[in-house]
Amino acid sequence: MHKPAVPIELLLLVALPSMLWLASCTPDSQPDALMTSTPVIPQTIALPEPRLEGTLTLEEALAKRRSVREFSSTPLTLEETSQLLWAAQGLTHPAGYRTAPSAGALYPLEVYVVLPEGVYHYDPDGHRLDLHLSGDACPALYAAALRQDPIMDAPAVFVIAAVYERTAVKYGKERSPRYVHLEAGHAAQNLLLQAVALDLGAVPIGAFYDDEVKKVLALPQDQQPLYLIPVGHP
Ligand SMILES: Cc1cc2nc3c(=O)[nH]c(=O)nc-3n(C[C@H](O)[C@H](O)[C@H](O)COP(=O)(O)O)c2cc1C
Repeated sequence: MHKPAVPIELLLLVALPSMLWLASCTPDSQPDALMTSTPVIPQTIALPEPRLEGTLTLEEALAKRRSVREFSSTPLTLEETSQLLWAAQGLTHPAGYRTAPSAGALYPLEVYVVLPEGVYHYDPDGHRLDLHLSGDACPALYAAALRQDPIMDAPAVFVIAAVYERTAVKYGKERSPRYVHLEAGHAAQNLLLQAVALDLGAVPIGAFYDDEVKKVLALPQDQQPLYLIPVGHP
């Protein structure tokens, strides 16, 4: 992935909403003087169709995957963002089945992506992003996640949250947490391997204050954050 030849701020002015601008969350990446007006933050972002072919084999992706904790400031493209979300929870069957298996096909997971301009919720049915929360949640998320640098440095942080009750309806309060956590692992691994296949780096982060993350991301009461996955160009 090469850096854009024109400044990202200029691209932004002409390309929104067809492109996400994913400048790093780090404080030194403030928009410069080129940014003469505040761009409108799209409420909904239609994602490009996921690609079903890639250049890396599954075996190569497995062998290459490593947790990456340092990123360049190069933003993710809309295509990359789309592909990562699809890998985590995208639809792969007209009946609603998804890339990751789910106990009883009850799909307890919700995926968000934290960008400098806002927190977006992924809608697998429409393969689109809906604005969930405006503004840069990254600094507060960083604080809620033990000030782990990848959260601030990555151009995008993917969040896997879960609604335990969806699975408990069928499997009961005792068994269902196990299933939900297994599913979060499936979704996260899909996303991590997709990141490798796109020449991106990522790290799964489980160390954070649940209540703080929930508050920072304004998650609905019945959703619990399970994983934060910063993704960017190594
Ligand atoms: C459940 C879980 C939680 C993790 N939490 C963190 C974390 O909070 N911060 C971090 O930097 N890495 C975290 N990791 C990544 C591990 O540190 C990493 O996978 C391990 O060191 C092995 O390295 P590898 O991923 O490159 O194979 C977590 C991994 C898992 C599976």
